[in-house]
Amino acid sequence: MDVAKTLEISTIVGATALLFYIGFISLPVLYAFQTIPDDPDMVVEVIARQWAWEFRYSDGSVSDRLTVKAGDVVKLELTSEDVIHSFFVKDLFFKVDVIPGKVVEIWMQPDVPGEYWIQCAEFCGKFHGSMRTRLVVEE
Ligand code: CUA
Repeated sequence: MDVAKTLEISTIVGATALLFYIGFISLPVLYAFQTIPDDPDMVVEVIARQWAWEFRYSDGSVSDRLTVKAGDVVKLELTSEDVIHSFFVKDLFFKVDVIPGKVVEIWMQPDVPGEYWIQCAEFCGKFHGSMRTRLVVEE
């Protein structure tokens, strides 16, 4: 076996091992995001439709803004009434696809009070760009 062939094989083996390693060390992070805490402080239904967001709170109130308390664990139940949208809070590095006919459960815990843009990040038609609202994190 010549040197070039040996180098090629060791590169392939090394790259494969590296990919498996990265996958392995990502598991705890993926698990943490996928696992909803047992007792969230708040549960909010998030409805996406062309071209607006609707937030339904457990007390029965409905809003076009998402308002939470800083530090609270907030469980979101997201669904779409028409096409695929994407719930994206750029400043919190938080993004999840919103799928018609499916409820996606995920949680967030914003801990810095303020207002953040929620922007749809999946092209969903004519007014996709204006499909945005605010996440209000209260003290
Ligand atoms: Cu909804 Cu883009």
